[in-house]
Amino acid sequence: MQNLFIKTYGCQMNEYDSERMADLLAQSHGLTLVDDPQQADVLLLNTCSIREKAEDKVFTQLGFWRPFKEKRPEVIIGVGGCVASQEGAKLRRRAPYVDLVFGPQTLHRLPDLLDACLAERHPQVDVEFPVLEKFDRLPQRPGRDGATAFLTIQEGCDKFCTFCVVPHTRGREYSRSMPDILREARSLVDQGVREITLLGQNVNAYRGGTGLIGVGGLAELLERLSRIPGLLRLRYTTSHPSNLDDELIAAHGSIDILAPHLHLPVQSGSDRILRRMHRKHNVEQYLDKIARLRAARPGIQISSDFIVGFPGETEADFAATMDLIEAVRFDQSFSFKYSQRPNTPALKLKDDVPEAEKDARLAILQGRINGLAQGYAQALVGTRQAVLITGPSRRDPQEVTGKTACNRSVNLPGSSAWAGQMLDIEITAALPNSLRGRLAQSDPTAHRLAV
Ligand code: 5AD
Ligand code: SF4
Repeated sequence: MQNLFIKTYGCQMNEYDSERMADLLAQSHGLTLVDDPQQADVLLLNTCSIREKAEDKVFTQLGFWRPFKEKRPEVIIGVGGCVASQEGAKLRRRAPYVDLVFGPQTLHRLPDLLDACLAERHPQVDVEFPVLEKFDRLPQRPGRDGATAFLTIQEGCDKFCTFCVVPHTRGREYSRSMPDILREARSLVDQGVREITLLGQNVNAYRGGTGLIGVGGLAELLERLSRIPGLLRLRYTTSHPSNLDDELIAAHGSIDILAPHLHLPVQSGSDRILRRMHRKHNVEQYLDKIARLRAARPGIQISSDFIVGFPGETEADFAATMDLIEAVRFDQSFSFKYSQRPNTPALKLKDDVPEAEKDARLAILQGRINGLAQGYAQALVGTRQAVLITGPSRRDPQEVTGKTACNRSVNLPGSSAWAGQMLDIEITAALPNSLRGRLAQSDPTAHRLAV
């Protein structure tokens, strides 16, 4: 047994978890990641159940892998993530050839599960929520590009929005302690990481032990992280509007390495729908927080998640969402058609917006958001931006790729020796999904700009 293949669906937390799985199995069983599933001895699927479409993909993918096991019965197939958590042992009814089922909170037990499966020649299922032991047992390392990394600081969610499966699959809110996070961040920076994105399902609900007496919130953690020498940029995702408190708003004004960009999902611009979604905030409160954020950090870009076609959403409710988009002028955002999820309270509401109407609303909303995002990108042309170079461009070895403060990719002619540097780049063009630029400073090794 030597080769491992992992396919990941869903959010950044899943990507982070998949990297940890690869590290764990490299340490415990000497497994090496391969790009071709047919070469793999262990195949893992890290699943997402946030929306219906994401879940459907799981069983389709397992169907593709089934023949590998028929050809080589010693192949191990494992399913982790939120679908595993939601379905547990039931998953094997639909896909009996699956050997391992583990949840987001038991992925650290993967080496033991694999051993048990091999020793007993029997499938293993472990989808408990022993969140406390998880972080202690996970190895850490920078992301693949070496200059950026994700760092999970919080997991789970206690908000129970009526449409959302997360509180049921990822469990209750849990925050890691500040000393643990600071230690991990310092070690990432020592390994060359220059930008850290703090992750959590409800990251701004973070309340972790300070290492002294008591607990502190995200603003305090960001402030402590910003003092790490060599760390050039900080981000955090995903936030809930009701946890964006005064302290955190002030942090956006006072911490200069905090990127001037915030993903703050609103879901709908109709108070009636927000109530039905159990979102705990209304439109006025959301707008007030955005206004205060913009006062604290002029120019901050805001992105969001939207759901169209939530049960009972009328034309007028949808129009209110479009009005909110005009009022806030969101940057690149995510939008989805509502889909019913297992165990969620919204199942009691009739899914009454016809599919064709959901499609039409989604197209209108996405058209407007894409137009706004393209406008922001165009406005960058001719300006100079602090761009963190992450490494060689995938398409052209003569070029490098980097990221702006507002989280856009920039490609430019350059040397991969620039990786990990924050450079002064003139933006020369805005393409649909990326920017082009050129070096605006003379010697890239001589300057390191602040964000
Ligand atoms: N239907 C559609 N979209 C959903 N999301 C979460 N649950 C559902 C659902 N049942 C979206 C929300 C959330 C994002 C991660 O996924 O917009 O912010
Ligand atoms: Fe889901 Fe709402 Fe929690 Fe976000 S805040 S993870 S949408 S329940």
